[in-house]
Amino acid sequence: MKILIFGVNGFIGHHLTNRILGTTDWSVYGMDLGVDRLSTSLDNPRFHFLEGDISINKEWIEYHIKKCDAILPLVAIATPKSYVENPVGVFNLDFEMNLNIIKQCVKYHKRVLFPSTSEVYGASTDPEFKEDETFLVVGPIQKERWIYSCCKQLLDRVIYAHGTRGDLEFTLFRPFNWVGPRLDSLDTAKEGSSRVVTQFIAELLMKHPLSLVDGGGQKRCFTYVDDGIDALMKILENKDDCCKNQIINIGNPHNECSVKELACILKKIFMEHPDHKSDPVYSEIVEVSAGSFYGKGYQDIYTRKPSIEKAQKLLGWTPATGLEESLRKTLYAFLEENER
Ligand code: UGA
Repeated sequence: MKILIFGVNGFIGHHLTNRILGTTDWSVYGMDLGVDRLSTSLDNPRFHFLEGDISINKEWIEYHIKKCDAILPLVAIATPKSYVENPVGVFNLDFEMNLNIIKQCVKYHKRVLFPSTSEVYGASTDPEFKEDETFLVVGPIQKERWIYSCCKQLLDRVIYAHGTRGDLEFTLFRPFNWVGPRLDSLDTAKEGSSRVVTQFIAELLMKHPLSLVDGGGQKRCFTYVDDGIDALMKILENKDDCCKNQIINIGNPHNECSVKELACILKKIFMEHPDHKSDPVYSEIVEVSAGSFYGKGYQDIYTRKPSIEKAQKLLGWTPATGLEESLRKTLYAFLEENER
């Protein structure tokens, strides 16, 4: 197969590329603005890379959509701080740019694996979110955090409408708080605008306080990236068309924990690391208000647990990596890279 990945240098993109090149005879065609996560793939003869912007390289995009068997449009701004600071930028990139790619996939009747998101379920109070049943609940317009959820939801709906009318073939996959090596850059975390796990790791390294937004009672289910990639590989293989026109949660419901518990576990793992067990001081854990941390456009999501019945049934997939192991592997990989 020929797999086309936009955002191939991103967190999911580069892990998926490594797996495809390492375990199959497929080729990967990829575009990204950067290459820093791709070092191990760049020399592989089955990896074809263009360093560039999806808003500019239109001919390359159309040519490769026509040529490839499966397309993954993974380019997106995916950090909540950006949703409230730059909602129009989120719309332009996450919605408009990806819509252009979907239109080309329709034109050439291609197979799309689209990264929907756990955020589409929004503030639903269902104990477990089910792909084909749960209501998608978002807050008022002034709460600009929801623009990301809305952009992804509308694309889900556009893709679904085309797919069920036979214009393209799709699988919408919904990652639930995937974590792992190279999740976000430590530089963005140093500016304070990263996802929580990278944010806490950067604070631990800088000896700055870990901030629990509104007390840190809100919960997430952290999913180790290798487990997520196992599921994506099964979706790409698509045995007996099992994923055709399906929406599939990819998350680990057994790894649920509050942000406060997350801070305590990461701090403990950090303090156990041989390079840090004799540090003279460690970060404190403090409470901050959502308004002061994110600004007035923010609204939080208190619980977010996936039902993975569908993934288990369609893919025969169950995540294997527990919470502490997922966080340890993630933290240690960041520490190793930070040393270099
Ligand atoms: C994330 C992002 O929207 C996307 O990356 C993605 O689509 C989706 O969820 C996902 O990965 O499933 P969220 O989980 O809210 O959303 O993002 P984080 O920035 O990781 O925050 C998690 C929780 O930690 C939030 O409740 C936030 O308020 C809290 N937080 C964050 C803190 O308490 N302290 C911090 O320093 C940072």
